[in-house]
Amino acid sequence: LRLSIPLNLLYVIEKVAEHLDCSPTSREVAEYFDQHDKLRHLRQEFLFPKVAELPPSDLSLVNGSEECIYFVGNSLGLQPKNVKKYIDEEIEKWAKTGAHGHTMGSQPWAWAENNLEDLMAKLVGAKAEEVALMNGLTVNLHLLMLAFYQPTAKRHKILLEDKAFPSDHYAVESQIRLRGFDPSTSMLLLKPREGEDTLRTEDIVSTIEREGHSIAVVMLSGVQYYTGQLFNMEAITKAGQAQGCYVGFDCAHAVGNAELRLHDWGVDFACWCTYKYVNSGAGGLAGAFVHEKHADTVKPALLGWWGHKLSTRFQMTNEMDLQPGVNGYRLSNQPVLLVCPLQASLEIFNQTSMKDLRKKSILLTGYLEYLIKHYYSRDESEPHKPYVHIITPSNPAERGCQLSLSFSLPIRAIFKELEKRGVACDMREPNVIRVAPVPLYNSFTDVHRFITVLETVLAASIVQSCPVSH
Ligand SMILES: *Cc1c(COP(=O)(O)O)cnc(C)c1O
Ligand SMILES: *[C@@H]1O[C@H](CO)[C@@H](O)[C@H](O)[C@H]1NC(C)=O
Ligand SMILES: *[C@@H]1O[C@H](CO)[C@@H](O)[C@H](O)[C@H]1NC(C)=O
Repeated sequence: LRLSIPLNLLYVIEKVAEHLDCSPTSREVAEYFDQHDKLRHLRQEFLFPKVAELPPSDLSLVNGSEECIYFVGNSLGLQPKNVKKYIDEEIEKWAKTGAHGHTMGSQPWAWAENNLEDLMAKLVGAKAEEVALMNGLTVNLHLLMLAFYQPTAKRHKILLEDKAFPSDHYAVESQIRLRGFDPSTSMLLLKPREGEDTLRTEDIVSTIEREGHSIAVVMLSGVQYYTGQLFNMEAITKAGQAQGCYVGFDCAHAVGNAELRLHDWGVDFACWCTYKYVNSGAGGLAGAFVHEKHADTVKPALLGWWGHKLSTRFQMTNEMDLQPGVNGYRLSNQPVLLVCPLQASLEIFNQTSMKDLRKKSILLTGYLEYLIKHYYSRDESEPHKPYVHIITPSNPAERGCQLSLSFSLPIRAIFKELEKRGVACDMREPNVIRVAPVPLYNSFTDVHRFITVLETVLAASIVQSCPVSH
């Protein structure tokens, strides 16, 4: 156990326990961490569902008036309290002033998103002019690929993960077909080594070195949605560009979760959604990044009036005066009702920094890992004791806040029992339960409560007597 937890983390947990004169697994340790958490006030900025409000909860088992254990911010972030207020302001303005709202009020709709790009850019480590908020994630991925994927007979491949998120897989597949190539020869898929769960950077880099001459675009995720692995984006970018490839990242699970430096790393392009760790609500406004080095060289393939320079956009000359860089990729005017929730969330991020959030995150997720390993490591001497295997890398530099757990028992039953007890997490086929303690709003006590619930659920009587479907 000692060796599989980062040592400084183990040291912190044990020191606190010693200081409190209690066991490292005691709830007092969690409470101590919460009291000393400089970011704990940020939880108050969000609406936390109550246990009773979650449909699967069973009130004969849990107290329905408690806040749920919300560990599914990797799928949909919680609602910031200001969302409703900001949306109300805009629909009120619409009701009272109609079309005048385009250019009037505190948030003129015609350039509503422009106020947010600074804040968004900070989150991804970019300059404001390298970031556009528009469309949905998969749409942005397509728009960027249309510009950056220029296959030739010699260089036509796209490198991606074997188990990339389905939408990314389909997007890449269809882009290849669109250009008249064959996905079976142009899609190069990265698989972990036999018996391993995650990809090694050295293997990604050596694949790029070996196949780079035929790769047009390296297109990986920043944080892998299934395993929770955080890729070494800097090393991958360097390796890809050294072979003449463009390198892009889908940062859906990385933004608001990991510290990103898209500009400094020289990443060519990136896209992300904002409804996961950035809490903008289902289908929220997505982001796109094009590095400034491509501002005048890599042109968008598809044009719309919103790509036209603002100063002359409304002169309606039908002669395109394209904005440089990512702003030229804009097509349509902005959906202000999607800008509102994103604004509410980014203002909360603006009260802290990714650096501080990461610091908390490493401790929070490390604490969860510590407790899981403490109670549920595989024990050869007790073959019938249930165990939990953490797929996500143990090295904090190789993960965000999410841990992907696989179990020695069937996960459907475990998942169902967790849900009944007010845990919001998610299950992903074939055999993973993902839990994401989010540093912006989760507490150490949430982690401790989760472990207590897990203990009840794994108590042989519950799970093993459940009818199980595989
Ligand atoms: C969440 C997620 C998506 C979802 O795509 P949308 O276009 O927002 O529906 C796509 N790719 C990845 C990697 C994701 O994590
Ligand atoms: C249930 O939880 C609420 C909110 O935390 C608390 O006030 C109440 O005392 C709890 N009820 C019981 C029976 O524990
Ligand atoms: C972000 O925070 C800074 C202070 O830290 C403040 O000056 C600025 O107005 C904030 N920006 C927004 C858009 O809220």
